[in-house]
Order: sequence, then C-alpha cells, then structure tokens
Amino acid sequence: MAFPSINPTQTNAWSNLLAHFQEVKDLKMQDFFAEDHNRVKDFSLEWNDFFVDLSKNRITGETISLLLDLTKEVRLKEAIDAQFSGEHINQTENRAVGHTLLRNFNSLPLEVSETLQKMKQFSEAVINGNWKGFTGKPITHIVNIGIGGSDLGPDMVCEALRYYKNRLEVRFMSNVDGDHVMETLRGLDPETTLFIIVSKTFTTQETLTNAQTVRSWFLKGAPEAAISKHFVAVSTNLEAIAQFGITSENTFPMWDWVGGRFSLWSAVGLSISCAVGYDHFEELLRGAHEMDLHFQEAPFEENIPVMLALISVWYNNFYGAETECIVPYCQYLNKLVAYLQQGIMESNGKSVDRNGHPINYQTGTIVWGSTGTNAQHAFFQLIHQGTKLIPTDFIAFRESLYGEVDHQNKLLANCFAQTEALLQGTYGNTVENNYKKFEGNKPTNTLLINKLTPKSLGSLIALYEHKLFVQGVIWNIFSYDQWGVELGKKLAKGTLDAITSADTSKINNASTRQLIGKLR
Ligand code: F6P
Repeated sequence: MAFPSINPTQTNAWSNLLAHFQEVKDLKMQDFFAEDHNRVKDFSLEWNDFFVDLSKNRITGETISLLLDLTKEVRLKEAIDAQFSGEHINQTENRAVGHTLLRNFNSLPLEVSETLQKMKQFSEAVINGNWKGFTGKPITHIVNIGIGGSDLGPDMVCEALRYYKNRLEVRFMSNVDGDHVMETLRGLDPETTLFIIVSKTFTTQETLTNAQTVRSWFLKGAPEAAISKHFVAVSTNLEAIAQFGITSENTFPMWDWVGGRFSLWSAVGLSISCAVGYDHFEELLRGAHEMDLHFQEAPFEENIPVMLALISVWYNNFYGAETECIVPYCQYLNKLVAYLQQGIMESNGKSVDRNGHPINYQTGTIVWGSTGTNAQHAFFQLIHQGTKLIPTDFIAFRESLYGEVDHQNKLLANCFAQTEALLQGTYGNTVENNYKKFEGNKPTNTLLINKLTPKSLGSLIALYEHKLFVQGVIWNIFSYDQWGVELGKKLAKGTLDAITSADTSKINNASTRQLIGKLR
C-alpha cells in the first residue's frame, strides 16, 4: 500500500468545487435555515458522548458531496490505512507514525505495555507516598521540564483534568527564560520535589539548560546520591539520560515512531499520571482509542474528524479564510488552544508537497482562540463585525463538574447565543445605523460533549489529531515532520557565541549584528 501523493488542485473534485464555490459564495446561511427545515438534522453528527452541529456552516448538500468526492480522488481512505498499518508515512524522516498504537489496549506493543506498567507503579508510589525523597519525606511537588510536545500536552491535560487531581502539585518548566526557571522553582523544597525531564531527543537546548540549572539548584541542598530519588527522565536517547546521571530504573523510554506533538499518550504523560493517577491516565488513552476506531471505521459523511477537516479545507482553500478560532466554553480547557497550535501548525505549516514540489495553494490554517465566555469580552468583536472570515469551533459540555446549575446554564446560553448571533446577525431586521449592523453568515461548528472526563478529553484531543492529518493528506503535505524549526535552532548557536564572546564578526546579518551590539 503506497501513501498517496496527489495534488488536490488537479482533481476533478477540486474543479467542481471551484465551480460550485462560484455558485454558492454569495448565498447566505440565514436563507439556508429559512428554506431547509431538515438542515439541522442533515448536518449534525452524533457519536458516543459527542454531538456535533455543523449546520451553521456555509455548506449545502452539494458542497459535502463534492468534498467527499475529493477524499476519494486524494485516496484518503488509503492514507488512513497506511498510517494505522505502520507504514513509514513520515517519509522525510523515514518513520512510521504510531501514536495511536500507544492507546490501543487490544494490541499494545510489548514495549508500550511495559512502559505503562512502569508508569503505573511509579505514579502510584509517588502519590501514595511510598516513593520517598532523600531525607525520607514523601514527594509533594513535581516539576515537568520539557518544551513543545514535551510540555504542552501534559500541561494542557493536567490543567484540563484539575478536577480529578490528587494531593501532588505539578508545575511545568519549559522556557529557557531564567526568570521562568526561577519562578517555577520558587518555594520548592528539594527534599520533597521530584523533577521529570522530558525530551524526545534529549538534545533540546532549552530543556537541557533548564535541567542543568535545576540540577545545580538541587545539589545546593542535597548530596549527589540524592539525584536518583528526585530526577527521572523520559526520552528516546537513553545514552544521554545516563550521561546526565539518571539511572535506568528512573528512565522511561519513548520511540521515534511517536512525534513530539503526539506524545502525551506515552511516558511523556508521566506528569499526568502523577497528577490525576494512572487509572485516569488510562481512561484518557481509552477515550482517544475510541476516537481512533471511529476515525478508521465510520463512513466519511459520519466521521467527525473527516467532516471537520473537509469543512476547514472548504474555508481555507475556497473562501480564502486564513485563520480558525477555537473557543472552549470550559475554563479547564484554557490551555487547549496553545496545545492545538503546536499540533496543527507544526504539522501543516508546509509549502512543499509530497512529491517534493513547491505548493501553489493554501495549506495549514492559523489556529487561535481562548475560553468562552472570556473571549466574548476580548476578541469576539472582530469575529462579529470585522472584515475577516473566521470559522470558529465552539466546544461545550452539557454538564459541569461541580454541578453549579445556574452557572452552567449561563455558560451554555452564551455559547449557543454566540453561534446564533454569528449566524443570524441582524439579517432581515432594521437597525439604527451601520455601526449596529451585524452581517451574520459567520460559520461555526458546535461540539457539545456530555461531560469533561479523562475519556471524553482523550476523544477530543484525538479528534483534532485526526482532523489535522486528514487536512495534510488533502493538501498533499507531510504532516509528521517539522523541518521548519531547524534553521532557527542552528542560527541560535551562532548568536549565542556572539553574545557570550561579545564578538559579532561571524554574524552575517547587519540587523542581528546591531541587536547583539546593543547588549554591550
Ligand atoms: O520545536 C521543535 C520540536 O522538535 C518539537 O517538535 C518538539 O515537541 C520539541 O521540539 C521538543 O523536543 P524534545 O522533546 O526532543 O526536547
């Protein structure tokens, strides 16, 4: 089975979509609703705890049918099967893409089940206090040291599952900014703090610098032999971990077939397992696996990640929308957007196709957002009355966790009211003046989920993982590499040399030279 590499713009479906776009681009969703009473039913999906309302989009039955034709012509089904069968679809790094294997409890690879067992034992020992610090006290604080995929996922999930957390306080240290390092360490007691160093490569400048600084800080109050009680590491680079002085018992493996931004399901999620307990961590994985099955098995017209991806392609490539907004009506999900930004933009920010040719159509969308209702009082003005088209995902939960009914009613009322206001605007009504006019016709998806649980969160994250993959397949790009982050890393070596030596003679660019000169 070969991973297909088809230029989407050369397909018949694409030409048909272009023609269709000309026919529908000036139509108004407000009229779709007025004319078609089946619209809501026809454009809603139901699966497990998820209800997805796609009806407030600039789509007709014909749009969906043409987008589904496109999936056939780009051979989406084959691409999905290629990923799940372990083919090296990350061709530019010659790797398989196996994050879904980490959560398939029906056939876990041996190394994965062994690692999960080790995570379970470790996190249980830390939580119940059997794991003691070097003076015999139980651990009270955990600090995850990592960046990018080795930080954003665990941090986001720990925050999202805060309701389920135990007595441990978990902090995240990511930025090489020394002030961030010192603030994260502030108030910590070396006797009761455990550090988890997470780096897939164990070569990342930020993480290694932070880990060394933390090690020195720790050794100011503890003997060298105490390291084994306070430092553990997660990486594919077992040699580098050993060099750092971490024993093999304190080492948790990772594998090159798991991309950093898809790695929270691996031992990278150790801080999650500590924060909320292994059983909740496993529930998260099981929820993601259920979404994997839905993605693999559901017909595309009922397939939530596929449908969301197709609608996004429709706005990105035909309407020319540059960005997409994501607004969870749930304060626990306040780190979801930052997490998805890496997942989506590091994956699909590409301009060379799978045949090695420069691309002359739009690929990765810019993703942004924050939680509702806060966002309503911040940037919603621009979505309502600005000049840009910004398709927005609204994510909400039917039930709250603490059961504060009045609050939950108001939260959901706002969520639904916003999607209606964006759709309807003041269409058909007379308004006092143009300033008070709302065009409406602004597209939204509403994802209504029963309740925020580890399982539903797992499904939600996996949904966006699959959505971005489908988009990458359609755009004919390699979603699983990230060469675009390398150049800056390389240049930073030269700028660091110049800063530390105060010698800018090897810096090529005059602007950079000047900036470094200003530090003197
Ligand atoms: O920013 C690039 C990147 O490679 C990400 O893809 C990755 O998540 C992050 O750096 C951290 O890498 P590592 O886990 O190897 O330290």
